Amino acid sequence: MIEQILPATVACAEAFTDPPSGALFPQEAAIVARAVEKRRREFTTGRHCARIALGKLGVTSGPVLVGERGAPRWPPGIVGSITHCDGYRAAAVARVGDMAAIGLDAEPNDPLPRGVLDVVSHAAERARLAVLAAAGPTPRLVAWDRLLFSAKESVYKAWFPLTGRWLGFKEADVTIEPDGTFTVRLLPTAPSASPSPSPPTSFAGRWLVGGGLVLTAIAVAAATGPGALAGAAGAPGADAGGGFARGDVQVRDRHGHAERPRARCGRPRTGQ
Ligand SMILES: CC(C)(COP(=O)(O)OP(=O)(O)OC[C@H]1O[C@@H](n2cnc3c(N)ncnc32)[C@H](O)[C@@H]1OP(=O)(O)O)[C@@H](O)C(=O)NCCC(=O)NCCS
Repeated sequence: MIEQILPATVACAEAFTDPPSGALFPQEAAIVARAVEKRRREFTTGRHCARIALGKLGVTSGPVLVGERGAPRWPPGIVGSITHCDGYRAAAVARVGDMAAIGLDAEPNDPLPRGVLDVVSHAAERARLAVLAAAGPTPRLVAWDRLLFSAKESVYKAWFPLTGRWLGFKEADVTIEPDGTFTVRLLPTAPSASPSPSPPTSFAGRWLVGGGLVLTAIAVAAATGPGALAGAAGAPGADAGGGFARGDVQVRDRHGHAERPRARCGRPRTGQ
């Protein structure tokens, strides 16, 4: 599914179960040695997906270790992103000549727990979500608040490797379009400790709902670079890859059939 919302220069891999073939290098295994089983499984399959995706680029990867603030440490010349939630794991990678950064996020297609939306959004964003939710029968199959949250997690995963700094949920203003795209205006308020002379001011991304999941992706094109609206994975008018027709929300299962949302819930982290 995830390839539907990523440009062709991004290699990706996803898994809906934890394959027994997933294995860690000793240095990776040390990272999760004391973690609970659930965390070990998601980490292992995330790395498994990362290796498959890297293989598609022709890169034979050693360990993908954990860098500053939890960001994955990719081989030289590679950018990428990893996500996992119940029943889903994915990784996406690209060469630095093609992409400056990638942000990927997967969430269950279920409403956020009560109270979370207020913490992670602006009033204007909530007003736009209400318009989307009221737009017709099909849009009601999308947990729009969860989609907004996921888009912001993708923002952070693209933002952090570019800037090396934290970004709070209220430091981005996300506009979701019903055609499977979203745009992000960045409003960083904290003094920048960023090594980047011109941190990004906007992003563009794409989203997809299917198989009980909300998926979001941001791919910042290298040619465009930080500071510009990076449209590689979200330019208006871009082909959505079969999941969506422009202006017409479609919610699909993994096999392309129309579906209803499932009931699952995760609690997002909102602290620094
Ligand atoms: C880091 C964070 C975005 C991860 O999202 P999540 O939904 O909890 O978890 P996911 O499974 O989707 O993603 C986890 C993966 O994100 C990646 N990740 C973690 N920290 C990261 C960072 N600083 N930069 C880039 N990627 C990071 C890792 O690969 C991690 O998986 P791994 O530990 O197995 O390697 C989230 O926990 C968080 O801290 N959010 C607050 C910051 C934020 O979102 N601000 C909003 C800005 S608008």
